[in-house]
Amino acid sequence: MKIKHPILGIALSVALFGVGVTSSFAADETLRSLAEKNGIYIGAILNSQWFGGGLPSQYEQVHKTQFNIVVAENEMKFDATEPQEGRFNYNNGDKMVKYAQQNGMRVRGHALAWHSQVPNWVNNYKNDKQKLLKVLKNHIDNVVGHWKGKVAEWDVVNEAISNNEPQWRGYSVWYQGIGPEFIDSAFVWAHAADPDAELCYNDYNLEQGVNPKAKAGFLLEQVKRWVANGIPIHCVGSQTHVEDTTTDKHFIGSPDSLRSLAKELAKLNVKLKITELDIGFKSGINVSKSDLERQGQTFRQYLDIILEEPNADTYLIWGVSDKWSWLGGLNRQKGLIYDDNLKPKPAFDSLLVRLQNFEPPQDTAATDTTKQDTTVTDTTKKDTTVKDTVGLDSTISIARSAGPGSITTQLSGHTLLITGAKSAIVDVFDMQGRPVFSAKNVKGSVDLKIPEGLYVVRVRDGSTNLTRRIAIK
Ligand code: G3I
Repeated sequence: MKIKHPILGIALSVALFGVGVTSSFAADETLRSLAEKNGIYIGAILNSQWFGGGLPSQYEQVHKTQFNIVVAENEMKFDATEPQEGRFNYNNGDKMVKYAQQNGMRVRGHALAWHSQVPNWVNNYKNDKQKLLKVLKNHIDNVVGHWKGKVAEWDVVNEAISNNEPQWRGYSVWYQGIGPEFIDSAFVWAHAADPDAELCYNDYNLEQGVNPKAKAGFLLEQVKRWVANGIPIHCVGSQTHVEDTTTDKHFIGSPDSLRSLAKELAKLNVKLKITELDIGFKSGINVSKSDLERQGQTFRQYLDIILEEPNADTYLIWGVSDKWSWLGGLNRQKGLIYDDNLKPKPAFDSLLVRLQNFEPPQDTAATDTTKQDTTVTDTTKKDTTVKDTVGLDSTISIARSAGPGSITTQLSGHTLLITGAKSAIVDVFDMQGRPVFSAKNVKGSVDLKIPEGLYVVRVRDGSTNLTRRIAIK
C-alpha cells in the first residue's frame, strides 16, 4: 500500500469552516465522497439531541456532507421503541430513516437484544422463560418488520459477553431468563423479519487479542458455532471505544489485534465492522497538539483495517463533535474527529488524507469492486469459497458460491454473463441498499439497465446465490 505524501497533505490542510474540507484537496472531496470512491461506508451516530432539534444546523450540514451511513445513538433501542408492552414508538427512528433516505445514506439499526436500556416492564417476566421468549420475538418481529427494507443492517445482539472473562454476561435479563440460546433465536427471528438485512453481533473490547482468554477469542468460537449451525449471522461489530495509549496505563488493545479478528472472521465468511469508534483521553488532562496528532494516527490505523481487509466495509464513529459525546460518563474526553466548535481536528485530516491516498493492493487495483460486500446478504453461508480474478480491462471475472451449487459471473460493460445457474433472478442494489434493477428467469446473460456507478449485484438460483459489488463504467 502506498501513501502519497500524507504528511505534506496534513501540513497543507487548512480547515475551512463548517464541513471540514481542507485546502489541500478538491473542494468537493469529503470523507463521504472518498469513502464511496474506496467502496466503504463511513459514518457517525445521530446524537440524541438531534432528534429533538437541539443541535445547530451546522451539525447536520457536517453530518450529511461527510458521512454515508447513520445509526441512532439511542432511538432504536428497546426502551425507545417499545416503552410499554406491545406499544411501539417509531417516531424518532422514522425521522432518522427519512433523513437517511433524503441524503442517500445507509441505515444501521442499534440494538435489538441488549441487557441495557431495557424498559422495566420486561423485568416483570424475568422468571418466565416462555413469556420472555415471546417478548423478545414480538419485539424483533415488529421493529425489524417496521423498518424492513429501510434499515440495511441490525445489531441483533449487543454486548452479551462478560467484560473481562471469556463467558456470557450473567446479569442480562435475556441471559438470566432464557439462557444463551436467546442469541441464536434473536438472529433467526431477525432474519425471518427481514431476510435482506445484514445481521451483526456487536460488542466492545474486541481489539484486545484473539485468544481464548480474550473477549474476541470467546466470540470467535461462538461465531464458528453459529455459522456451523446455520444461524444467520453476517457480521461482527467491534464498538472500538478505546483510550489514547499514553493515558491508559492498562491499554492492551490495538488495531493489529482487531485486524487479526477480521482475518479470522473472513475464514467464516463473516464481516467485521467498526461500529462505535472513539479514541478518548483521560478527563482532566491537558490534551496537546501532538496528542491530537497521535490520536489522528490511531484513527487512521483503524481505518486501514476497513480499507485493506476484504471482509471489512464500515467505519462508524460514536459521535460527531466532542461537544456532544457520551465519553464524559466514561471519564474520557476529546475522543471524536470534530472539536467543540465543529471544527475538524487532526484526526479528520488524517482520515481524509488516508482515503485520498489509499491504493488497493496491486492484484485488485483494476477496480475497487472486489471487497466482499454483502450489503444484500446471502443466507446460506456454509460454502464460503471466494475466488476473484480481476482483469486488466473493465471486464471483471468473479466466482463466489454460497449454497450447494456454484454461480460465476463476468461483467463486460453493462452485460452480466452468468454461468452455473439454470434460471437466475438478478437483483441490483445501489450502495445504500436500495433496489435499482431486477430481472427474472435469466439464462446466460442479462443487460443491466443502470447508469455508471458502484452497485451490489445478487444472482439467485434456488438455494444458491452470489452477491458481489460491481462497477459499471
Ligand atoms: O431517557 C432519559 C430521558 O428521558 C431524559 O430526558 C434524558 C436526560 O438526560 O436522559 C435519558 O436517558 C439517557 C439516554 O442516554 C438518552 O439520552 C440515559 O440517562 C443515558 O444513560 C443514556 O446514555 C446512552 C448510553 O448508551 C446508555 O447505555 C448514551 O447516550 C449512548 O451514547 C450510549 O451508547 C452505547 C451504545 O448504545 C452501546 N455501546 C456503548 C455506547 C456507549 O455507552
